[in-house]
Amino acid sequence: MTSTAAVTDTRARALRDLRISLTDRCNFRCTYCMPRHLFGSEHLFLPRAELLDFDEIERLSRLAAGLGVTKLRLTGGEPLLRRDLDVLVARLAAIEGIEDICLTTNGSLLTEQRARELRAAGINRVTLSLDAIDDELFKSINDVGYPASKVLAAVDNARAAGLGPVKVNCVLQRGVNEHQILPMAEHFRHTGVVLRFIEFMDVGTSNGWRMEQVVTAREIVDTIRAVHPITRAAANTPGETANRWHYDDGAGEIGIIASVSQPFCGGCTRARLSAIGELYTCLFGVHGRDIRGPMRAGATDAELTDLLAGIWRARDDRYSEIRGEQTASRRGKDADGRVEMSYIGG
Ligand code: GTP
Ligand code: 5AD
Ligand code: SF4
Ligand code: SF4
Repeated sequence: MTSTAAVTDTRARALRDLRISLTDRCNFRCTYCMPRHLFGSEHLFLPRAELLDFDEIERLSRLAAGLGVTKLRLTGGEPLLRRDLDVLVARLAAIEGIEDICLTTNGSLLTEQRARELRAAGINRVTLSLDAIDDELFKSINDVGYPASKVLAAVDNARAAGLGPVKVNCVLQRGVNEHQILPMAEHFRHTGVVLRFIEFMDVGTSNGWRMEQVVTAREIVDTIRAVHPITRAAANTPGETANRWHYDDGAGEIGIIASVSQPFCGGCTRARLSAIGELYTCLFGVHGRDIRGPMRAGATDAELTDLLAGIWRARDDRYSEIRGEQTASRRGKDADGRVEMSYIGG
């Protein structure tokens, strides 16, 4: 094992979390994420040989742990499309320094048996995505006709397997699903599931994001409060994405991820590894740094560690804060307040 030390970036932020994308594929076509006109039958997904294999993912996770990473989040695309995921999880769980292994999934492949296997392999927690509780509305959002009731069954499978506390992510878009705030909140009260509402973000270039589509944290809180009083709770960990709230009547906790109206870049300790082994130091990064290339060319652990550490030390990202400042300064000048990528750095 290489001897290494924790690294910090140019804003004194440590590297703590590594979010690993296991595949670019998904069996859903959520209109804001993989719209059919861009991800149709002609879309070329990555060939298998391009993807990092389990040895490579394990190796990079181990080197990242040596630099201070304690939390791994497995994402995609849809990570459960990756075969033998439990084999990978068991290998990641054995890495010294890794304390938390989480999975973000759409739930469609989370059978009771799969949930148990993942728990046994070492996944601690899962987060499921569910943007509406109304079957017809959810079917139209995922655009593959998948009913909300089946995601709710997957939530139950996760809970039964002890993958908790289970979280449910609900991305809100004005004019699409903001009327689901209360039905969703009411469904998950008293269940122990932590429902989190997410402000719609301008990730990528395919979702045609406009500021007007964002249902802000303020509105979400007001909508819930009008019926069920809630009180702000302290963060569990510094740099957490969600603001935590408790129902005053003891019905549980909800979270709000306000990355548009209240950016949290100041405490951002997250790096992202793409399915083909590029390291991104920001969700809104335009170019990742190729790690797979040097790794496949025979780089040693020490060389790869230096590469990862160097990328993190040079990091200056704070996209959401910059977008916030830009949007605020444009208020009154630009009807839609939308930040252009060219402003943010292309
Ligand atoms: P916990 O460990 O349970 O707190 O999960 P998490 O919030 O880190 O992860 P999850 O995959 O559930 O992400 C929830 C939402 O937060 C998603 O919409 C993410 O895109 C968004 N998100 C996560 N990390 C970041 C980040 O670093 N920056 C921004 N702007 N959004 C993020
Ligand atoms: N804005 C906010 N959240 C998004 N997600 C995907 N695209 C966006 C977006 N544009 C969510 C998914 C999932 C989580 C990992 O990110 O719904 O819950
Ligand atoms: Fe994107 Fe998740 Fe929807 Fe798949 S389920 S299309 S990854 S938002
Ligand atoms: Fe971190 Fe970039 Fe998100 Fe800011 S916008 S919290 S720097 S990933």
